[in-house]
Amino acid sequence: MKDHLLEVTGNVHLSGKTWVIRFSAPELAAKVRGGQFLMIEVSENYDPMGRRAFAVGDVRDEEIWIFYDVVGRGTKIMSGWERGTRVRVFGPLGKGLFDHRGERHLLIGGGIGLAGLTLFGKELRGMGKEVVFVYGARTAEQLSMMDWLKEEGFSYLIYTDDGSAGRKGLVTEVLKEFDRSWVVSACGPKAMMREVSRVAKETGHKVYLSLEARMACGWGVCLGCVVRTREGKFKRVCWEGPVFPAEEVVL
Ligand SMILES: Cc1cc2nc3c(=O)[nH]c(=O)nc-3n(C[C@H](O)[C@H](O)[C@H](O)COP(=O)(O)OP(=O)(O)OC[C@H]3O[C@@H](n4cnc5c(N)ncnc54)[C@H](O)[C@@H]3O)c2cc1C
Ligand code: FES
Repeated sequence: MKDHLLEVTGNVHLSGKTWVIRFSAPELAAKVRGGQFLMIEVSENYDPMGRRAFAVGDVRDEEIWIFYDVVGRGTKIMSGWERGTRVRVFGPLGKGLFDHRGERHLLIGGGIGLAGLTLFGKELRGMGKEVVFVYGARTAEQLSMMDWLKEEGFSYLIYTDDGSAGRKGLVTEVLKEFDRSWVVSACGPKAMMREVSRVAKETGHKVYLSLEARMACGWGVCLGCVVRTREGKFKRVCWEGPVFPAEEVVL
C-alpha cells in the first residue's frame, strides 16, 4: 500500500444517487485484488476531514473504476470532479479477502454493495468458475449497476423490495434455490448481511461477508473500525478484513 496521486479520466452519473469514477492508475490496476479498497482524499484543506473508503469496482486496462453513492459531503465533492482532476488515493488496502475456493459462487450485493463484489466476480470467471450475481435494491431506479452486469455478460438474478424490477422480495430468498455446493459472498447494508448469515445457518451455505465500517486511517492504526468476533475479541475491518467468514463475526 502507498499513497498515489491519480488523475480522473471520467466521472459519470449512472442513476439514482450512484456514480462511477475512473482513474488512470497503472500501478494500482496491476496489483489490486477483488475485495480490496482505497482511501480517497476528498478535500485538500481538511474540510471535510479524513479520507473516504471505496471498494475497487473494476479494473480495465490501466484504469480503476469506483462505483459510489452520493450520501454526504465527501461524496458530493467527488461527484464534482472533472476529467483531469488529480486526487490522493491510498491503497490498495485490506488483507482479509474473499475465498476463491469452490467451483460455484453466488455473489450477493445489496445496493452499492454490489461494487464490493464485481472485481472478485471477474477474478472467479478468469479462473473458469461458475458465477451468479444476485443484485438487490429497493426499486428499479436504484439498480444502477445493471449496465455493468449486462456488459460483462454475467448471469444474474434481480430482487427489488417493491417488485419494480426482477423478483419482489429479499435477496436472501435465493439461498433456498442454490444448493450448498455454492459458496456465498455478500456485500451490502448491515441488515442484509445479518439476514444472509441467519438464512445461511439454516441452509448450510459457507458465507463470506465484506463489511463496511466508519474508517479514519484505513490501515489498522486508529481502531475506529473494529467488529466483534464470536469469541468476544475484536478485529479491524480495514486490516484483518474487510472480508470475514460469516460465522466469525457478530453484526
Ligand atoms: C471498506 C469499505 C468499502 C466501501 N466501498 C464503497 C463503495 O464501493 N461505494 C460506495 O458508495 N461506498 C462505499 N463505502 C462507503 C463510503 O466509504 C461512504 O459512503 C463514504 O465514506 C461517505 O462519505 P461522505 O463524506 O459522502 O458521507 P458522510 O458525510 O461522512 O456520511 C453520510 C452518511 O453516510 C454514512 N456513512 C459514511 N461512511 C460510512 C461507511 N463507511 N459505512 C456506512 N455508512 C457510512 C454516515 O453514517 C451518514 O449517514 C465503503 C466503505 C468501506 C468501509
Ligand atoms: S480505520 Fe483505523 S484501524 Fe481501521
